[in-house]
Amino acid sequence: MSDPTRPQGPKIIAVANQKGGVGKTTTTINLAAALQETGNRVLVVDLDPQGNASTGLGIESQDREFTTYDLLVEDAELADVIQPTELDGMSIIPATVDLSSADIELISNEKRSFLLHDALRQPAMDAYDWDYVLIDCPPSLNLLTVNAMIAAHSVLIPLQSEFFALEGLSQLMLTVREVRQTANTKLRIEGIVLTMFDARNNLSQQVEQDARDNLGELVFETKIPRNVRVSEAPSFAQPVLQYDPSSKGAEAYRALAKELLNKQLTLAA
Ligand SMILES: Nc1ncnc2c1ncn2[C@@H]1O[C@H](COP(=O)(O)OP(=O)(O)OP(=O)(O)O)[C@@H](O)[C@H]1O
Ligand SMILES: [Mg+2]
Repeated sequence: MSDPTRPQGPKIIAVANQKGGVGKTTTTINLAAALQETGNRVLVVDLDPQGNASTGLGIESQDREFTTYDLLVEDAELADVIQPTELDGMSIIPATVDLSSADIELISNEKRSFLLHDALRQPAMDAYDWDYVLIDCPPSLNLLTVNAMIAAHSVLIPLQSEFFALEGLSQLMLTVREVRQTANTKLRIEGIVLTMFDARNNLSQQVEQDARDNLGELVFETKIPRNVRVSEAPSFAQPVLQYDPSSKGAEAYRALAKELLNKQLTLAA
């Protein structure tokens, strides 16, 4: 599907929150699958040494010969690092624990914050004709996350509907602002999405209220419910849209993709 706000080349979205376990990987995988389902060509970049997005999309560790580490640190060819997934038109650059040493290894590299930016803008990218690139960030505001924010057009922030959810958000926003003031002046917040939402739980409602009061339109209307099918899907190496297409979780990620696409159409109008 064409997106009129799309810059030349794919739209690049970093999925980030330095808090652990808030649904970054789940959102990356399933939003990617939902965008794929509507006919988009999507590349997932696993930028987390934990490699959860790679596992969740069926790339087992022994099959990760070339990884994000090779792309960033060893200047590997795109053709070597990009691997197809089971879904047509959806690929992934997998990660392994190697990536955890990138910070230290790159310390004397002047371009260390721009490595992903440059890798994703090399001419060889054009041939793939991606519509979207989704970057799954690690739970930290480290060099990898900064690389993602400099490479991206926007940041999508999953917010877990739990106590302390908003804590740490100001730090994240500050980092986005710093990147915007320096290396990537056009960086936008794509939106904040409430994850693991439990409508029966007062706390979830409270977090939603707080988020909407404080962050207004930045918060997506779509909420991702806590849904056991969502948490089961990665162990079957599938997005929930494939594992259980009619589950509440799959429906929610479809709605999120639709809202994201609509937002862009509105912005372009
Ligand atoms: N909507 C949901 N319903 C049920 N379980 C969920 C949902 N979203 C995420 N989970 C589960 O919560 C856990 C954390 O999710 P996920 O791995 O996506 O978070 P993360 O932010 O990527 O974590 P990390 O910071 O470690 O990278 C996982 O076990 C995942 O299966
Ligand atoms: Mg993760």
